[in-house]
Amino acid sequence: MVKLTLPKNSRIKPGRTLKSPGGVSLDKPASSRTFQVYRWQPDTELCKTESPNLPRYDQFSLDVNQCGPMVLDALITIKNDIDPSLTFRRSCREGVCGSCAMNIDGVNTLACIKPIAEVEGVIKVNPLPHMPVIKDLVPDLKQAYAQYASIEPWLKTSSPDQPDQEHRQSPEERAKLDGLWDCVLCFCCSTSCPSYWWNSDQYLGPATLLQSFRWVQDSRDETRRQRLEQLNDEMKLYSCHTIMNCAKACPKGLNPAKAISQIKQQIAREFD
Ligand code: SF4
Ligand code: SF4
Ligand code: FES
Repeated sequence: MVKLTLPKNSRIKPGRTLKSPGGVSLDKPASSRTFQVYRWQPDTELCKTESPNLPRYDQFSLDVNQCGPMVLDALITIKNDIDPSLTFRRSCREGVCGSCAMNIDGVNTLACIKPIAEVEGVIKVNPLPHMPVIKDLVPDLKQAYAQYASIEPWLKTSSPDQPDQEHRQSPEERAKLDGLWDCVLCFCCSTSCPSYWWNSDQYLGPATLLQSFRWVQDSRDETRRQRLEQLNDEMKLYSCHTIMNCAKACPKGLNPAKAISQIKQQIAREFD
């Protein structure tokens, strides 16, 4: 077993325990649940007084019968009623924007589609693992987005522009994009992939590779071979060792490992 020495400032100290002021529910009995939430607030006095400046776990108790059923609903209630400084990303509340990705009960997922009732005991909420944290539950996705931009995720053609014509696609060609276009770029998969943890500066990771396969598979794109040539790299692509964490982690039920293996198969067929 590998032994790792963690830097001092990665230790997490106990934080505060806070309760919801509560209210009166006319139709449901109170049901109190505790949320243990990772806090890292480099700009607050509370953290600045510590040396080294350590993150902490705050415990929030609230009556979950007074908020919506998902973990995101509870976080919004905590922010509204208990601690407005709690910081997290969210937008659609429907599992389609990918912004509320975090680690809940040890699993990377989207907070807006994770039912509170599915978690037993204390509900532990952490930022996506192995990413720098900007604040609380907000990971720094700069590098992941730069890798995504590097695959040029847009339709590329070399034929002369015909602005008055559509790029037509048969139903069969369109069906090849199913399971790929549905990716919401939440990075739950990449941040659960051990290969990405250790080599995220060079390995593109399952999210970006699934997205790149989406363009390789698009019958309207005329740069398929160049795309495959760019992916044909020991670190960018072949750092995937088929561990399959990515497919287990995807909250949209997609299979990045399969997309990666299909890229490898196409490269093996066309370049060997
Ligand atoms: S299959 Fe590849 S991309 Fe998926 S978790 Fe394993 S190493 Fe990472
Ligand atoms: S493949 Fe799934 S887990 Fe990975 S970024 Fe896309 S939606 Fe998120
Ligand atoms: S808020 Fe958009 S996916 Fe959760």
